Amino acid sequence: MAKKMWGGRFKKAMDKNVLAFTSSIDIDKELAVYDCEGSIAHARMLGKTKIINSKEAGAIVKGLKAILSSLEKGTFKVDKNFEDIHSNIQFALEKKIGKAANKLHTARSRNDQVVNDTKMYCKDKIGGLIKAIATLQGSVLNAAKKYFGFVIPGYTHLEHAQAILLSHTFLAYVEMLERDKSRLNDAKERMDSLVLGSGALGGTTLPIDRLYVKKLLGFKRISRNSMDAISDRDFIVEFLAALSLVSMHLSRIAEDLILYGTKEFGFVEIDEKFCTGSSLMPQKKNPDVLELIRGRTSQVYSNLFSVLGMLKGLPLSYNRDMQLDKEPLFNSIAIVCEELGLLSGIFKSIKINREKAASIFKDESIFATDIAEYLVKKGIPFRLAHSITGKLVVYCEKNKKNISDIDIKTLKDFSGVFKKDIFANLNAASSVRLKRSLGSTNPTFVQREIKKWSKALKR
Ligand code: ARG
Repeated sequence: MAKKMWGGRFKKAMDKNVLAFTSSIDIDKELAVYDCEGSIAHARMLGKTKIINSKEAGAIVKGLKAILSSLEKGTFKVDKNFEDIHSNIQFALEKKIGKAANKLHTARSRNDQVVNDTKMYCKDKIGGLIKAIATLQGSVLNAAKKYFGFVIPGYTHLEHAQAILLSHTFLAYVEMLERDKSRLNDAKERMDSLVLGSGALGGTTLPIDRLYVKKLLGFKRISRNSMDAISDRDFIVEFLAALSLVSMHLSRIAEDLILYGTKEFGFVEIDEKFCTGSSLMPQKKNPDVLELIRGRTSQVYSNLFSVLGMLKGLPLSYNRDMQLDKEPLFNSIAIVCEELGLLSGIFKSIKINREKAASIFKDESIFATDIAEYLVKKGIPFRLAHSITGKLVVYCEKNKKNISDIDIKTLKDFSGVFKKDIFANLNAASSVRLKRSLGSTNPTFVQREIKKWSKALKR
């Protein structure tokens, strides 16, 4: 049985089921590196303020560095007899350097230690996630460049709506992902305050130097209220909420690609490296990776709800319930990281299929909005133009005709302002080219956006 950090008050041994029930080491071992780094800064501060002597501080730092390097090499043995990674490292240090290790926990509680470790971990992970999102944006942008000029039907209500450049759709994904990066950055900024030095909840009587620790660990601020610092898990909720939005975006992108890749839509082809087959139907090439990206979003949402639920109604300050924040946190980060990498690979190898889109545009009713706006440009009020075009579409449907099959005389029965120039509007390329509003799918604007994004993502 491993030593406890709180043995003194207890006469009886722990019930045999308690360690397994209360232990978090299987999960929080992921914090090991941050725990060592936090402890190194704490020990340096204890030495600097002469709370412990410099020899002891030096020995602690040296011992922790040795543990760090064994963690990096993968030779550190996590000992499941300890209830958490903090105790495990404390006792590993004692084994390495002897009695001096007992001074490390001076002016510190696991309550501030665990928040500190988790914040350091989150800041690090957010940095990595932002990079991974930028990489995905880069792959999407490259696909937008590569297939610039290719027009697909855009959908509302999953019905043919208007002609849209595929690149415009891809740049929509880049925009969504940009908001994700900014949300993660915001969360990182808000969590960037040092909590070490808050003690168990009320601070310490010892003359610690929190500003020094803040500097050593690279935090922007120090927390101003020890009770809040100990009990605050908002940063985890915010991080999980930001990840939920990333995941929701990835699921929507995945769904577009699933649809666009079907025989029915047929605009894109997902490389078979990212597909699986059927054990029974020999012809199948299924988009399972995309389906799982779509599906796992619900797991990322549950992780957010799990932490929100755990925190609801908890009294200040630390409660053991809070230990349950880490599994959902780590799980969401792992899922999103994996998905970002896979989706980036999918965009790198995506191919387009021109025929299917071209065949959809043979039905010219998709240009109805352009026709209504043509009429507006000839002086017809929009509501009337809408109704004229509506009638024209119904006429075509009834007579199984396309608009360009109708002679100009018949068109003039719908509106006297129709001239032959209407026929030049009835194709996908003109439809996108005629768009004039900023932010629209006009190829000149889309090209400009591609340039802007190329520059921005290089930074
Ligand atoms: N494993 C604990 C957690 O993650 C560490 C803090 C324990 N503190 C305590 N007072 N029991 O929350």
